[in-house]
Amino acid sequence: MKVLAINSSPRAGKGRSKTELLLKSLVEGMRQAGAQVEVVNLKEKKVRFCQGCFTCWTKTPGQCILKDDMSQELYPKWLEADLAIYATPLYHFSLNAHMKAFVERTLPFLEPFFERGEGGAIHHPLRHKPPAVVMLSVAGFPEMEVFSQLSSWARFIFREGLLAEIYRPSAEALGTVMGKEVLPSVQEALQTAGRELVESRRVTPETMAAITQPVLDKETIAGITNMFWRTCLENNLTPRECTEANLVPQPQTLEEFLLIMPLGFKAEAAGDLNATIQFNFSGQVEGSCHLDIAGGKVAGASGPAQSPDLAIDAPFALWLEIMSGKADPQQVFMQGQAKAAGDLGLLMRLGQLFGS
Ligand SMILES: Cc1cc2nc3c(=O)[nH]c(=O)nc-3n(C[C@H](O)[C@H](O)[C@H](O)COP(=O)(O)O)c2cc1C
Repeated sequence: MKVLAINSSPRAGKGRSKTELLLKSLVEGMRQAGAQVEVVNLKEKKVRFCQGCFTCWTKTPGQCILKDDMSQELYPKWLEADLAIYATPLYHFSLNAHMKAFVERTLPFLEPFFERGEGGAIHHPLRHKPPAVVMLSVAGFPEMEVFSQLSSWARFIFREGLLAEIYRPSAEALGTVMGKEVLPSVQEALQTAGRELVESRRVTPETMAAITQPVLDKETIAGITNMFWRTCLENNLTPRECTEANLVPQPQTLEEFLLIMPLGFKAEAAGDLNATIQFNFSGQVEGSCHLDIAGGKVAGASGPAQSPDLAIDAPFALWLEIMSGKADPQQVFMQGQAKAAGDLGLLMRLGQLFGS
């Protein structure tokens, strides 16, 4: 099987594109099953907009008048392919403009005439048989419904040529620490999907379910996402700059603190630890909350714990400084700016258990 995989993300090629992250695994699976796959990043190609001149239907049948990478390289490759993967980020609930420009420039494969198709609807006769299609898209929002318009378009235009639709919501979260638990199994499922497509031209429902599995619950994703954007705004940084600077999103409430703490949790460092840590905060955020560690997992709750193994009293702002590596925890406790009661061995392990 000859496959042309077209990635229209403007972020492709620098390890930041989630379309690319997913496409890589799908392509890997296809190659494992013996397909010959070429990946094209549209951002590196010159694909001008269709002029609507219909020269490709009249004076130069099947040939676009524009001389660019589309007419000279991509369109011939597309015609030769058995399968085209349209991998697009979801922009405004649809395919992005780069991808739409590519699709519109495939017009020469049609003839101008109107004829009745099998279902009775009028369509254009085909000049060439187009490749079968796999739609792949990623979205920032966590709900599957965000793909409904793209899916409706793809089903209408590609009809029986559409072999699979692979849509991944919460794609941005998947690529961060939020997705660390599920990313490996999503990537594995994409490889499986790639093999299935080559071997049987379909993706099984089980594989699709593994690809679309939730990253975290929607409320947690929304809370952490909001903290992240607030951190970008407060520091006047783009998301990329914020990530590169390794800035820890700053919680402003106890609820946000409880959302962010489990993200840094290192299950390997916890081993079979069974413990409850209580925080009594003062200052800009006042109140108690606690974290229960058991079975390699951590769960947070507001209010004091029944019998904490360790209780920490600290100003909230100071604790955030410790979390983000700006304050030295040893000094803070030695100087009495924060106090700890209970299992002090556990206090010493906090850095390993949660990182910075
Ligand atoms: C112009 C623009 C429009 C977007 N529109 C949507 C949208 O309608 N729904 C959504 O869930 N995410 C939307 N997003 C978020 C992207 O889908 C998300 O960031 C995705 O990871 C981008 O793909 P990439 O990482 O491969 O570049 C939009 C992003 C941009 C830049």
